[in-house]
Amino acid sequence: MTEQKATNVHWHDGDISRDDRARLLGQKGATLWFTGLSGSGKSTVAVALEARLFERGHLSYRLDGDNIRFGINKNLGFSAEDRTENIRRIGEIAKLFVDANVIALSSFISPYRADRDQVRALHDASDMPFIEVFVDCALEEAEKRDPKGLYKKARAGEIKNFTGIDDPYEAPEKPEIHLRTDQMTLEQEVDVIIDYLEQHGLLGA
Ligand code: ADX
Repeated sequence: MTEQKATNVHWHDGDISRDDRARLLGQKGATLWFTGLSGSGKSTVAVALEARLFERGHLSYRLDGDNIRFGINKNLGFSAEDRTENIRRIGEIAKLFVDANVIALSSFISPYRADRDQVRALHDASDMPFIEVFVDCALEEAEKRDPKGLYKKARAGEIKNFTGIDDPYEAPEKPEIHLRTDQMTLEQEVDVIIDYLEQHGLLGA
């Protein structure tokens, strides 16, 4: 748990509540947390899901590992501490989106179970849906895909602490959704997520 550094700060509520915003937008927020190896398909699924949700009239917003590391998290690398801080910040950002009633699609390796559980706890404490989506793909397959050529570099020793090679990945034990991206089509994966959201009343009546 990150400690509170600033003192003499006070939470200030507005006059418009999360429920008021939900009525205005006609939707409720939720975080879909995609976790998995580099090259497992997290961003690909999030992009396809965003489009499907958009067609159905739902606003979602993607938070993506590589992109976020160009901006708010440009000062973080890939040490265990930096990855933890990366995930902590994204968890807080996702919460802001949920509070606005946007569906946050968060795609980060997020290799440590404790970090993901911390984000889940943050959501639970604010009564916000948190849906962990395990984007499961055999390392062998992710390495074969190697869309950014990073596994090749990691194997050659040009990248240190690369997840799956010389850095750990702790798979979720009880994800809400488990996708086998080395065995399913993209369309099937999106269908599974949409079904889940419908069954849990997250896409309205
Ligand atoms: S996380 O571990 O902190 O969740 P994040 O998802 O933000 O990682 O960033 C992962 C992306 O950074 C990978 O998809 C890859 O493009 C790039 N990357 C660069 N170095 C590493 C590394 N050492 N381990 C994993 N990914 C890396």
